[in-house]
Amino acid sequence: MNVDSFRDMYIAELQELRSVEAQLVDALPRMADEASHMELKQAIQTHLEETRSQQVRLDAILRRHGAEPREHVDQAMQAMLREAEKWAGMVRDQDLRDAGLIASAQRVEHYEIAVYGSLATWAKLLGLEDDLQALLSSLEEEKQTDEILTGLAKRMVNPDAAAT
Ligand SMILES: [Fe+2]
Repeated sequence: MNVDSFRDMYIAELQELRSVEAQLVDALPRMADEASHMELKQAIQTHLEETRSQQVRLDAILRRHGAEPREHVDQAMQAMLREAEKWAGMVRDQDLRDAGLIASAQRVEHYEIAVYGSLATWAKLLGLEDDLQALLSSLEEEKQTDEILTGLAKRMVNPDAAAT
């Protein structure tokens, strides 16, 4: 697909983001398995459910625009997840691994927050009100997840890891 207009660029970026969410739907169950703190495991599982609905939202937007949801694979996300799994495999202590898991998960969340932010701004500019509302809903979920992870890290996971 050629990108010759602002709208084309918006659609291509939506397809990239759809790939991000699809990759996360695959990766989050493994991250939840690896987590030892129950609260962290639960937070990851809750975000897995949100991620599934975020993917459905993006599918709906793309279909509304007559675009194929599986057009692109986001390679930045592939690299981030590969790194996360490599790290998790290297760290044997459970508390250290949980702190590392949060760092990896927050890297992903910040990436998603950046992309949703850009796409929401573009949807507004293009006058796509339904798209905008859906993108803002997902953006809010990503921000909340990021805050929950920060809270868990500060309150228990990082202090436990630092005691190792
Ligand atoms: Fe997401």
